[in-house]
Amino acid sequence: MSASSPRVAVIVVAAGSGTRLGAAVPKAFVTAGGRTLLEHAVHAVNGMRQAVQLIAVVPADRLDDSQSLLDSVSPGARAVTGGVTRQASVAAGLASLEDAIDVVLVHDAARAFTPSSLFDEVVASVDVSGEGAVPGLPVSDTVKRTDADSRITATVDRSELVAVQTPQGFPRDRLVAAYAAATEDVTDDAALVAAIGHPVRIVAGDPLAFKVTTPADLARAEQLLGAADAGPSVPRIGLGTDTHAFGGDGDLWLAGLHWPEERGLAGHSDGDAVAHAIVDALLSAAGLGDIGSVFGTDDPRFADARGEVFLTATRERLAGAGIRIGNVSVQLIGNRPRFSPRRAEAEGVLSGILGAPVSISATTTDGLGFTGRGEGVTAIATALVVVR
Ligand code: CTP
Ligand code: MG
Repeated sequence: MSASSPRVAVIVVAAGSGTRLGAAVPKAFVTAGGRTLLEHAVHAVNGMRQAVQLIAVVPADRLDDSQSLLDSVSPGARAVTGGVTRQASVAAGLASLEDAIDVVLVHDAARAFTPSSLFDEVVASVDVSGEGAVPGLPVSDTVKRTDADSRITATVDRSELVAVQTPQGFPRDRLVAAYAAATEDVTDDAALVAAIGHPVRIVAGDPLAFKVTTPADLARAEQLLGAADAGPSVPRIGLGTDTHAFGGDGDLWLAGLHWPEERGLAGHSDGDAVAHAIVDALLSAAGLGDIGSVFGTDDPRFADARGEVFLTATRERLAGAGIRIGNVSVQLIGNRPRFSPRRAEAEGVLSGILGAPVSISATTTDGLGFTGRGEGVTAIATALVVVR
């Protein structure tokens, strides 16, 4: 299948008025950290591992503005007009699905800070199970049932409860059938799919997927973005270095490329010093920690992981935090491999993974030091990011 015909669609519903928020504009067009909630949500979708068909469902009088926004930040995405209820808005989105789509995620624009990785996890769950998947969090408060006089009538067993979030994902045919069969108005998609007899499972939700409903939620969002006093967005730089010794098992992987004729580098992962230096530079620029704190260098999931795995996960983290990568510059220091014949190839691969230009230079140290003696390589990376 070509990259231009994705099999997953994300419908972002943004057509509500936001009565409980009480802002002067519809909720999805309220800003936090200088960007609208809709923009934040679109950026999170952009950070997904795979290309998707993105449909934004918006109020009629915002259709043209929204399409212009999408044209600039998510080319190919489409804005459509919503309905009076959330359910009608989702139905409007479903009407615009491309033929090749077989999995559909429905997402509230109001859950603007949902990490990209949660979208990926919902898709993965639908793919593996063939059933609907909805993120949910355990309920931490004790929950009571009350009567019309606000008197407690029962304590509800909390262990049976989950608070559900979005994106909610389903096999396309089941979601379409559920909407076609809908008779009553409900506030989530899982309820409609369950109503026609299909199971829906819960996957682990994320506190960052909270819904902006009230002014207090918006204040929390501003705090999260660290943007309350930040004024206009300012670019930020970050620095990262990494060193690995030759002597790993297997061939060399460096700068996202396989070098079959070269000795491998030692390390818990594949020892790709260029990729690791870039990850540290990006995380540092974003203020999101470093490779050890984010990926856990002891974590068995990352044993032998390729540099691409860390770079992709880093890109998602940044996108989820509303941070765009400007560019990355790396210098590789070492005698081997001879880098210049494959420099353009490496730049292409890394730029593709990050969705931003990566330039790489390589140098030797005139025979001095451990790189000069051919014991290993060092990479130094700088990254520029823009906080939205
Ligand atoms: N939504 C929609 N069309 C509607 C109603 C809601 O697309 N007719 C979307 C909202 O834009 C939001 C999501 O559904 O992203 C969740 O709804 P909610 O948080 O209830 O948003 P609003 O309906 O806008 O807010 P309120 O209920 O406070 O008016
Ligand atoms: Mg509502």
